[in-house]
Amino acid sequence: MSVGIERLSVYVPQYALRLTDLAAARDVPPEKLTAGLGVQEMAIAPPCEDVVTLAATAGARLLRAADVDPEEIGMLLVATETGVDHSKPVSIFVHDLLGIGRRCRVYELKHACYAGTAALMTAADWVRADGGRVRRALVIAADIARYEIGSPGEPTQGAGAVAMLVGRAPQALVLSEQSGTYAGNVHDFWRPLDRREAIVDGKYSVECYLDALAGAFLAYRGLERPPLAAGAALTDRLVRLLYHTPFPKMAMKAHRRLLEIDGRAVDDDAAAASYRTQAAPGLAAVARVGNTYTASLYLCLAALLEAEGRALAGERLGLFSYGSGCCAEFFTGSVPEGVEAVADAGVAALLAGRTFIDVPAYERLVRGGEAGGEPPADFAGEFVFTGVRNQRREYARPGALAA
Ligand code: HMG
Repeated sequence: MSVGIERLSVYVPQYALRLTDLAAARDVPPEKLTAGLGVQEMAIAPPCEDVVTLAATAGARLLRAADVDPEEIGMLLVATETGVDHSKPVSIFVHDLLGIGRRCRVYELKHACYAGTAALMTAADWVRADGGRVRRALVIAADIARYEIGSPGEPTQGAGAVAMLVGRAPQALVLSEQSGTYAGNVHDFWRPLDRREAIVDGKYSVECYLDALAGAFLAYRGLERPPLAAGAALTDRLVRLLYHTPFPKMAMKAHRRLLEIDGRAVDDDAAAASYRTQAAPGLAAVARVGNTYTASLYLCLAALLEAEGRALAGERLGLFSYGSGCCAEFFTGSVPEGVEAVADAGVAALLAGRTFIDVPAYERLVRGGEAGGEPPADFAGEFVFTGVRNQRREYARPGALAA
């Protein structure tokens, strides 16, 4: 019996900054950000939002859309690299806010951006090993990507969360059991315990990503080195390819590399045409949200299914997940018949309703950090981080604060 993603829901913060405005403030040509990196806008979290509220809002939207009783969730996994405590996991706050029952395995996973996939694979294995009982897991990937103001990483920030219901009735994506993994200790990107912003060796991180893509893809195919035989390519049987997307140009580089590794003799024109058909359709939302670390690949999936799920029914997709440090995985999934019933993950509606802020307002929000407190009047999230009292983080519904 098939196992996979039954449904997805997305949440991104209400506030966004246009990259053309950032380029003007940093005195760089706008095309460097919009074409060179491929980013149009980035989502900014206000002080009353942290990774708990992002994850819980995505989870609440999913449980409501899927009409699932929280008591049915037997496993809750939250993947993040924006943890709020060295010991207490984000997942237990989310468990409480969503009203999930006591008979639940709950924990947080970390391995940079790869943790979302680690959680999805763990949940799928748990569902497969059900011993005859119906099992449903809730997987949430959520992050706030932060780099130093004025650094090369600044235009690749973002924030958001994707919640996925994993079970035996996958109406969004049937996961194949085969996957290829790759790991190695590299210092391409990390965030020491006392820092809010990541440290990154940017150009090296791009190389590490591409090396890991080659390693994971060859592992998937059970090969030691790239196949040279004509006609053996896998990528021409995958109708769309989705990549972890710190910025859309990274997916373009990845797609080109993948075609080469896969033995498809492509010139620049053929690679560009393949990119437009196979990879670009998955990038529309990430170009407007920025890097969401663990959630990035799944934001691509949610937006793709929302935009063209019906047309993709019966087709197979390739997915590549990369987490700095590093661990990576290449896997495939099929879009089931009936996907149109669950294709609305909320992406288009969220992006259409955002408020654009200017660079001084963005800098104020970033410098202010996660202070907690009252939500702004146009706040669209379902939970608010109200602050730390008596060494404890506290959360509330926005309505409860106003009362
Ligand atoms: P940079 O200094 O802006 O790089 O940093 P650049 O000067 O090479 O410019 C970028 C691109 O813009 C280049 O294109 C330029 O040619 C082009 P490319 O040669 O790469 O194709 N360009 C222009 N294009 C049009 N008009 C112009 C123009 N000028 C230049 N006028 C870098 C870029 C990505 C290094 C930086 O943004 C950074 O450090 N980002 C953060 C790290 C990152 O995202 N790494 C990606 C791989 S690692 C990963 O994905 C994991 C991660 O998500 C974390 C995790 O796992 O948790 C980050």
